[in-house]
Amino acid sequence: MIRKDSEDLVRVGPGTAMGELMRQYWIPAAMSSELKADGAPMRLALLGEKLIAFRDSAGRVGVMDHRCPHRCASLFLGRNEQNGIRCIYHGWKFDTQGNCVDTPNLAGNPGFKNRIKAKGYRTAERNGLVWVYMGKRAEAPPLPQIEATLLPDSEVTINFVQRECNWLQALEGDIDTSHFGFLHAGGVDPDDVPEDSLFRFTVANRAPDYHVTDTDAGTMYAAYREAELGKTYWRFANFMLPFWTQTPQGKFTEHLHNRAWVPMDDHHTMFVSLMWRHHPPSIGPDKHGRAMPGFRRAFDYLPNTTDWNGRWRLAGRPENDWLIDREAQRSGGNYTGIEGIHAQDQAVTESMGPVTDHLFEHLAPSDRMIMATRRRLLKAARALAKDGTVPPGVDDPAVMYPVRSGDFITDARLGWREAYDREMRAAIRPLKLAAE
Ligand code: FES
Ligand SMILES: [Fe+2]
Repeated sequence: MIRKDSEDLVRVGPGTAMGELMRQYWIPAAMSSELKADGAPMRLALLGEKLIAFRDSAGRVGVMDHRCPHRCASLFLGRNEQNGIRCIYHGWKFDTQGNCVDTPNLAGNPGFKNRIKAKGYRTAERNGLVWVYMGKRAEAPPLPQIEATLLPDSEVTINFVQRECNWLQALEGDIDTSHFGFLHAGGVDPDDVPEDSLFRFTVANRAPDYHVTDTDAGTMYAAYREAELGKTYWRFANFMLPFWTQTPQGKFTEHLHNRAWVPMDDHHTMFVSLMWRHHPPSIGPDKHGRAMPGFRRAFDYLPNTTDWNGRWRLAGRPENDWLIDREAQRSGGNYTGIEGIHAQDQAVTESMGPVTDHLFEHLAPSDRMIMATRRRLLKAARALAKDGTVPPGVDDPAVMYPVRSGDFITDARLGWREAYDREMRAAIRPLKLAAE
C-alpha cells in the first residue's frame, strides 16, 4: 500500500477522493425519530462537515452548515419556530431548504434576505431514516434501492452505533471473514455446537479458503470449507459502494440486512444497521442450552449528548479498555474477555488508532477481500475525479437491490457462482421491485 492510496481511501472531507465519491450518493444520516417538529436542532457531523439537522413545524427536515451565513454564529443555538430556524444572534431565519426568509435587524431593507442562502443540503425521509444528498447536482439522484432500506418501519430494526475510528477500518471488519472464528468464537468448542447448526463448520475449521470478485455493486467474497463428505459450507458477503456491507453470519435465504459505515469525520463513523425483523437469530445456544460465551447481541449505550460526536456511543470505549475482563479472557470461554459481538468488533477496530497506518500492516491471503475492496473504491474515486465517471448505484440504484449474503451448504461439485445464483433464486423477498 502506498501512502497516496491510503490517504485517498481514508480522508472524507470536501475535495478529497473518497469525500467526493461519497458525495455522489444519498447518505443515511439520522433516524427519523431523532428529530421532533419544532424541537431542538441536532448537531450532525457528516463527511467532515459540521451540520445541524432540524424538523420544522410542518415536519420537513432541514440539514445545513451549522454556521449562520450572516456572521457564523452556530445555528445549533437557533430557535426552531414556525417553519424555520432563527439565528439567535441577529434573528435571521432560514427554512429547511436554506432560504433566508427574514432579516429582522435590517428594518429598511426587506429585499436583502433574497441575496442570502444558508448552505443547505437536500434531504429525504423513508422508512425511518433521514437521508442527505451532499453532492453538487442541481437535481439529486434517485434514492437508493438497497433492499433493507425499502422495507417499511414495521418490518425493519434500525440501530445506530458510533465508532471512534476511521470509516474504512470499521467497514473492513465486516468483510474480514476469518476473524469470526477467533475474535467472536475463539472460545467455542466445536463439540458444544448443535449438530444442525452450520456454525460448527466455522469453529471446526478456522482457516477457510476464499473466492473474491468485483460485482456491479462493489465486491463479493465466498469463504468455503469442506462440510461433511461431498459437501461444501459457504459463507458469502458483500461490499456495496460507497460504504455498505452485508455480513455472512446468517441463513442466506432469510438474511435480509444492510449495514452502512457512514463517516462523520476522518476519526468518527456512524454504523447504521438495518435488519429485517423476521430474520432468524444466526447462532443459537450450545448443545446444552447455554448461550455461547461472549455472544450477547444488545448494545450498551451511553446517554446521547448534543456534542458533534455525542450520538449513539457505547459504554465500552478506548478510555476503559472496552471493558475487557481479563479473568473471562483467561478462563477460555470468552476468547476476548469482551462481552458482545459488536463490542468485540468495536474494540479491535478502535484499538488500531483513529486511522489505521496502512504502511504498518502486513496483509495476508486471508485479506484478499479487503485488498479487492480498497482497489474497487480507489478505482471508482479516481474515475470520478478523472473524467466524471458516475459510480455504480447512483443513477442506476437497482444494481444495489439484488445482493445478498449468508451461509449455506451445497454439493461440493457446485461452483461458487452457481451456488450463489441458486441460493439467490431461493431467497425470500418480502418486497418485489417493479423492475424485477
Ligand atoms: S450571525 Fe446569525 S443572524 Fe447574525
Ligand atoms: Fe466481527
